[in-house]
Amino acid sequence: MIQTDQSRIKPAVKAHDVSINIRLSRLQLTGFRNHAELDLHIDHRPVVICGPNGMGKTNVLEAISLLTPGRGLRQARYGDMAAQNGDGGFSIHAKITTAQGDMGVGTGVMADAPERRVVRIDGTSASSASALGRIMRALWLTPDMDRLFVDPASTRRRFLDRLALALDPDHADHGAIYERAMRQRNKLMREAKANGTQPDPAWVEGLERQMAESGVALSAGRRATLTRLQGYIAASPDGPFPRPQLALAGLVESWLEQAPALEVEDRFSTHLARGRARDFEAGRCLEGPHTADLAVRHGPKDQAAALCSTGEQKALLIGMILAHARGLTADGLGPVLLLDEVAAHLDQIRRAALFETILDLRLQAWMTGTDAVLFEHLGDCAQYPSIKPAMVTNG
Ligand SMILES: Nc1ncnc2c1ncn2[C@@H]1O[C@H](COP(=O)(O)OP(=O)(O)O)[C@@H](O)[C@H]1O
Ligand SMILES: [Mg+2]
Repeated sequence: MIQTDQSRIKPAVKAHDVSINIRLSRLQLTGFRNHAELDLHIDHRPVVICGPNGMGKTNVLEAISLLTPGRGLRQARYGDMAAQNGDGGFSIHAKITTAQGDMGVGTGVMADAPERRVVRIDGTSASSASALGRIMRALWLTPDMDRLFVDPASTRRRFLDRLALALDPDHADHGAIYERAMRQRNKLMREAKANGTQPDPAWVEGLERQMAESGVALSAGRRATLTRLQGYIAASPDGPFPRPQLALAGLVESWLEQAPALEVEDRFSTHLARGRARDFEAGRCLEGPHTADLAVRHGPKDQAAALCSTGEQKALLIGMILAHARGLTADGLGPVLLLDEVAAHLDQIRRAALFETILDLRLQAWMTGTDAVLFEHLGDCAQYPSIKPAMVTNG
């Protein structure tokens, strides 16, 4: 069985015990979307990037999100990230300042292998992007996430998995192994059906074992994250962001409430074997951690988040991210926050509360907006780097 090491999740300490949170001190982009070359030197303060639409603000946040495992905040193909008029490759380099000192982290794709991500940590190649999860945690909010509570469950699973990854860097691996095994099982079933045969039972059984192991680890990680987040929410001071009530709905998740992980692995494995005929007919696996859902309710109103107003949904979402960031910081795991166009849609009280929380927790938040006035409250407490392309001078 795959260990979901909850002992790694340290007990809470007070926020003021945290001497330094992880932050970027330099960010260099080459051939990344509209940034042919960008080189930003950043100090400890929150970062505000202001400017018109299409300037490349979200692209900068996306680049930072790629310094963690996964496909970043747009879930885009690497081929789409490479500058259109470039050679097909791109690179993102960052100097990351941690309590232990500075580290150099780089990622990107080469022109001749546009779907294979290269990762280098302090000049040494890492075998996969998972290694990045051990260095930096990032949480983000983007305008797309305004639909989180009304979108299909997959969006909420991805959201929860991002919160889980901040607590356990192995979480992404469990998800990747599960998805891969499930895709192979689906493919075997579809191919056999097309040929009028049955899939090789030994092969299917092997894949189901993998699905059971990784799927239970994935679900256990989600459950542990939910419990942690609920604790963080309960411990958060009162403020203008409503407290959400959270629940996780899913087959394996509910089994984990009643039985230890090893037993649930066997149960899930048996369940998959019994469901073969049904999955064979459907051409895909119908039940498992890939169908789980995160149910969110507006606490004070006791109403499903999906029924709340757009503004209330946004406030709930920000409240969740801030509670998680606050809890992580208290546990010495402070994340980098990427807040794309978040300030624009908040009233003055909530905007001030957001800024004050970021300053209070000493987090490096990267915030974007089209209007600098929105960030006046931050004054000199933030920095405002320019991301305009460098002027080309002749001679
Ligand atoms: N692969 C790419 N190559 C070059 N430009 C790109 C690429 N992908 C997106 N862009 C450009 O980036 C710009 C959008 O950047 P974005 O960061 O979303 O802007 P905003 O400042 O509004 O957040 C658009 O002009 C888009 O055409
Ligand atoms: Mg944008």
